[in-house]
Amino acid sequence: MTVTASFSQVPTLTEREQARLLERTRRSGEYYERARRVMPGGVPSSFQRNDPWPIYIERGTGAQVWDVDGNEYLDFHNGFGVMCVGHANPQISAAVKARMDQGSHFAAPTEGSIIVAEELRRRWGIPHWRFTNSGTESTMDAVHLARGFTGRDVIIKIEGTYHGHHDAVMVSVKPPADQMGDREHPNSIPYGLGYAPGTTEATRVVPFNDAEAAERALSGLEGQVAGLILEPAMMNINIVPPVAGYLERLRELTTAHGVPLIFDEVKTGAAVAAGGATELFGVTPDLVCLAKAICGGLPGGAIGMSDELAALVESGAVRQQGTFNGNPLVMAAAEATLLEVLTPDAYTRLHGLNERLMEGCERIIGEYGLPAHTVGLGSKGCVTFSSEPIREYRDYCTKIHHELSDLAWLYHMNQGIFMTPGQDEEWTLSVAHTDEHLASYLEAFELFARDVTR
Ligand SMILES: Cc1ncc(COP(=O)(O)O)c(C=O)c1O
Repeated sequence: MTVTASFSQVPTLTEREQARLLERTRRSGEYYERARRVMPGGVPSSFQRNDPWPIYIERGTGAQVWDVDGNEYLDFHNGFGVMCVGHANPQISAAVKARMDQGSHFAAPTEGSIIVAEELRRRWGIPHWRFTNSGTESTMDAVHLARGFTGRDVIIKIEGTYHGHHDAVMVSVKPPADQMGDREHPNSIPYGLGYAPGTTEATRVVPFNDAEAAERALSGLEGQVAGLILEPAMMNINIVPPVAGYLERLRELTTAHGVPLIFDEVKTGAAVAAGGATELFGVTPDLVCLAKAICGGLPGGAIGMSDELAALVESGAVRQQGTFNGNPLVMAAAEATLLEVLTPDAYTRLHGLNERLMEGCERIIGEYGLPAHTVGLGSKGCVTFSSEPIREYRDYCTKIHHELSDLAWLYHMNQGIFMTPGQDEEWTLSVAHTDEHLASYLEAFELFARDVTR
């Protein structure tokens, strides 16, 4: 890429900042040595890995977190977008503690699940809801429902998206460029090992933001497609919003082909608007999958469905179940999150903060001539290191200056701005963030911009 030539000092700066980060996080290094003896990679989930070691966190409050070395950070990572309520939020804590004192688990329904389901119906305008324990379970149940409803096998997903780690969607998540095939006929590439023969082939991929490609796939596989699943805005290759008319066209096409449309709103749900991307873009799917931000930091998820799909759950034809589904502690946290913390005023404030953070980044990008631009939705935003807009995964592979992304992450971490490890993510703001916190973020970003363009 041409931009690489004009940023020739990136390797030196990266080496320097990497050394600084290691020096600041020696204790995390010791934890890592201990942890890796009992947990592969020294982490509970592979997403928490980082090279050469992850930063182990001790505690958090409001918009701040502290690592085990005692470093203080402003948290823009926010638990992969879960913590829109802020850490140790007093309203969530009070609700969960009160529920704890009344018993934390019965595997029988409590009123909390009714209240949360009613609120989700109000926010999404989707009539029926069930609960899960994670985003993975939500999208897994959506796939079961779509297959059960249609009696068909094939799932169409978007190339380069992650929908959790169950078999049907662990396909072409981050396909290597030399294996993905041509854009018109992308290969289905398994994401890791461990899937039974035929599993990967039952999932076909199409590029994001290309309704004609989706139409070709639906027509070419007429009578075989059980469901089309997508994030209405892609959120794992930075943020890629849908182009005008794309979601509307997918809605028309899936209806015409009798294929349930599944929105994976695990990341967007309750974070980009009260009713998630469904509200933001004004297109209603047949199934919506939620998790992350809706439960205020406790592990839970939900799945919303149309009348026809709910009938399959009601009759028991499709099994939607789980010991911890609708767990009272999780429901108490979700109720406080949705009814007390993420209020209409909170969304107005979050959106304002996000706009101002993006404006600040744009000013710095312009001033220093960085090959970058900002993208944001609701409480989430990112700096995408590409001069051109990114419309789909293949753009992300070829147009993003990945070394600059990595270096910006190091600068942020060394300046006390906690960000998602890796270059694929975005920031998430919480109700505890203030304009002062944004100023600190921008200061770190400007230092990076100054050094890298010097
Ligand atoms: C869009 C999307 N869907 C599903 C999932 C899976 O959620 P979980 O990690 O809670 O299983 C994720 C996780 O990051 C995600 O980003």
